[in-house]
Amino acid sequence: MKIRQIQAYQILDSRGIPTIKCVLTLHDGMRMSACVPSGASTGAAEAYELRDGDTKRFFGKSVTKAINNIHTIIAPELLEKELSCADVDSTLLKLDGTHNKSNLGANALLAVSMAAVRAQACVEQKELYDFIHQAFLFQHKALPSCMFNIINGGMHANNGLSFQEFLIVPKNKQRIIDILDCASTIYHTLKNLLKEQKLSTNVGDEGGFAPCFSKVGFENEQEALSLIARALQQAGYSNSDVGMSLDVAATSFYDAEKNIYNVSGRAVTREELLTFYQQCVDNFSLLSIEDGITESDWQGWQEMNQQLGDKTAIVGDDLFVTDTKKIQQGISLDAANAVLIKPNQIGTVSETVQAIKCAQKAGYKVVISHRSGETNDSFIADLAVGCGADYIKAGAPVRGERVAKYNRLLEIEQALSSI
Ligand code: PGA
Ligand code: ZN
Repeated sequence: MKIRQIQAYQILDSRGIPTIKCVLTLHDGMRMSACVPSGASTGAAEAYELRDGDTKRFFGKSVTKAINNIHTIIAPELLEKELSCADVDSTLLKLDGTHNKSNLGANALLAVSMAAVRAQACVEQKELYDFIHQAFLFQHKALPSCMFNIINGGMHANNGLSFQEFLIVPKNKQRIIDILDCASTIYHTLKNLLKEQKLSTNVGDEGGFAPCFSKVGFENEQEALSLIARALQQAGYSNSDVGMSLDVAATSFYDAEKNIYNVSGRAVTREELLTFYQQCVDNFSLLSIEDGITESDWQGWQEMNQQLGDKTAIVGDDLFVTDTKKIQQGISLDAANAVLIKPNQIGTVSETVQAIKCAQKAGYKVVISHRSGETNDSFIADLAVGCGADYIKAGAPVRGERVAKYNRLLEIEQALSSI
């Protein structure tokens, strides 16, 4: 493909914070775009998100510097050349020159990288998921299972819950429409349950409910899990139909100085945390626990994987930050058995693909994930199908930026079934 023009501009993400939309115009006039998401509970080793820092506009969160980098540094190197999307990524990596993309900004790089993948798919007249599957030589192409975050806590809400995400995972359902039916029914049953108990039905950043929990320690987490279990039952489902998962995001409430976790006003040790997970796995047959231990404690991860890894998926998000080197480290230490994949944690699609492949090769489960600050871009739905991921995690079955991903899966399913 030959790119004639690259235009990037600021749009708002789902939290009302600026992010980048990048539009590529090819020689035949075709235009393809991509939008970049943004996290709140970010891992320390994530790629660098370049923001202006000038507090006069958008409280310092503008991304005009990153956009300027696209226009003045990246575009001149990409225009009017015959390039593949792999060439685009290697140019981006060369131009930036750092591992964490601190020169040009991972948000600048990813916007161009994703748009280039879309553009090449279009040139080759392939659906994006098909192109990803073929161009990156993935072994399987399949619709993933879906994880729906229906109670929000941690940094995505302000409600006394320390754990960040309480998720449901419909099982044994082949069709996406049936998965969505199940998730939506449980979501609305939970809403009614909350109303009955005079609890707020306001939602957090990812569309899950965020009622206030006022107890101390694990009691709040216990209550959230029990509420979901009740909703599940009331909606006519059992544990064998619908699994439950946690994204603890433990780094967000870990006190490094004291080496303890602050769980809703109680100081908790690593061992107490692991005991609680053990109880949760036994009582709620949890399918997965993400970031159950802080990102710096590899030994703690090893312990968790040893204790629980044969019963539940031990998912590394902040631990791995979609970085192949860190995933390799995890594999050699036997610190987890699953990985969360977020393209903006690393900065280009090629590196994201490399991370997925590394995890798949080691037999890790792969979860493709949105960010808490999202746009309506549904790239990750195509990525999940194209790489044959086990799961996609895109928030609650509500709110435009979350359902954009699930609705794209519906579209892909239609296309796949009509072949
Ligand atoms: P984040 O949350 O996008 O705020 O990092 C999502 C997650 O931790 O999985
Ligand atoms: Zn996470």
